[in-house]
Amino acid sequence: MQAMKTDLLIHSARQLCVVPPHAHGPQRGAHLGDLGLLEDGALAIADGRVIAVGPTRELAARFHAAREIDARGKVVCPGFVDPHTHLVWMGDRAAEFEQRIAGATYMEIMAAGGGIMSTVRATRDASVDDLVAAMRPRLDRMLAHGATTVEVKTGYGLETDAELRQLEAIVALDRSHPATLVPTFLGAHAVPAEYKGRSDAYVDLVIHEMLPAVAEKSRALGLERLPFCDVFCEDGAFDLAQSRRILEAARALGFPLKIHVDEFAALGGTRLAAELGATSADHLVTTPPEDIIALGASETVAVSLPSTPFGLGHHDYTPARALLEAGAVLALATDCNPGTAWNESLPFVIALACRYLRLTPAQALVAVTLNAACALGLGDQVGSLAPGYAADAVILDAPDYRHLGYRFGVDPVALVIKRGEVVAVNGQRVTA
Ligand code: NIG
Ligand code: FE
Repeated sequence: MQAMKTDLLIHSARQLCVVPPHAHGPQRGAHLGDLGLLEDGALAIADGRVIAVGPTRELAARFHAAREIDARGKVVCPGFVDPHTHLVWMGDRAAEFEQRIAGATYMEIMAAGGGIMSTVRATRDASVDDLVAAMRPRLDRMLAHGATTVEVKTGYGLETDAELRQLEAIVALDRSHPATLVPTFLGAHAVPAEYKGRSDAYVDLVIHEMLPAVAEKSRALGLERLPFCDVFCEDGAFDLAQSRRILEAARALGFPLKIHVDEFAALGGTRLAAELGATSADHLVTTPPEDIIALGASETVAVSLPSTPFGLGHHDYTPARALLEAGAVLALATDCNPGTAWNESLPFVIALACRYLRLTPAQALVAVTLNAACALGLGDQVGSLAPGYAADAVILDAPDYRHLGYRFGVDPVALVIKRGEVVAVNGQRVTA
C-alpha cells in the first residue's frame, strides 16, 4: 500500500492527549478528565486539520509527510483555549494593586471612581491602531504559553463609538495574528461616571443604541456570526433585572450570551444564565447550592477564573467539585485584565485550579481545551486532537502531562502549533 501524502507528522510523543469529545460535545460532570491518552503517539495533519491520530508505527507507515516533528520524550496536547479575557485596555492599575495590599477592596476602589472606570478613562479615546498595538504583545505571550484560541471582550469604552472601536480592534488583531480571537461585546461592564445614579438609562443605551450598532458593525466587518453579549451582574454594576433586560434584548437580536456572575455577591445571575440558554456563566465564586444544581442541569458552561481570587489575594475559589457533582460542564480561563488578574498564562491557571479547585491535572487540561472551546460554541472545531479538529497543538518539554499544574512560574510549553504551523518556541512567538 502506498503511503498517503500529508503536510506534517508529529510522532513518537511519549504521551499524546487526544481529549476526545463526548457525544460530540463537552466532557460533563464526573466524566471530566478523559484525555484519550496514547503512548508513543502520532498525529497526521493536512490543510491545517488533524486527519489521523494513533500509534507512531501505524501512522509512520500510512503517511508520507512533507515535514516531521519528533516529539520523543515529550507530551502533545490540544492547543489551549482561553474563553474569558479583557485584553483591550490601555494603561495599567499598578497603583490600585498597591492600594489593595494596604487594605482597600476591589469594590471600594470601584465605588470611588477607580477600578473599571479608571481603565475606561485610559482606553476610551484610543484609536483602533493603538488598541491593536497594545493588545498584540499580550496575545503573543498568551500564544507562546499555549493559547491558540482566545475570547476577548470589549467593555472599556462604555459609549457606543468607543465600544465599536474596541470590537474593530479585536477583529483586526484576529486577522493579523496566528491566534484565533473570538469577540464579545461587554457594553454592560460598568455604569459609566456620566450615568451615575441613572443606571437604567445606561441600560437603555446599551439595549437601544449599542446592541443594534454592534450587530451592524459585525456585519460590516464581515463576521460570520455575531459576537457574544456579556453583562457584569454584580452589586455596584448591573442587577439581576438589568442583566435580564440586556441579555433578553441581545438574544432577540441573535447574539449568543455570556454573563459574569457570583464574583462577589450572588444575585441570581447563574439561574438566569441557565434559563436564557447562555453559552457560559463565568466567575462562580459565591454561587449558592441551588444555583449550582440549576447550572449542572443546563447546557451552559461554567467558566471558572481562578486567577481572579488569586490576583485579589482572596481565599475563596469556584466550588468546582460541587459543580462537577451537579453534572456541570466546567471550563477554565485567565480573565486577563488590568484590574483583578493580569495573567497571560493558562498553564498558571491550571496550577491554581489543581490546588484551589482541587481538579486533577487531567481535569484541568480538558477544562482549558475541549470544554473551554464549548464555552465559545467551538467545541466541534478546536480543543481536541480527534480527526477533523483544527491542528492546534501544544508540545510540552516534560515526560508526563501532569507536569502541567505540578510546575508553575515557568511552564513546560515548548512548541505551539496553530493550524499545522509552528508559531511559538520556548516561550517566544516566532514568525515564518
Ligand atoms: O472579570 N468583573 C468584571 N470584570 C473583570 C475586572 C475588570 C477590571 O477590573 O478592569 C473581571 O474580574
Ligand atoms: Fe471578566
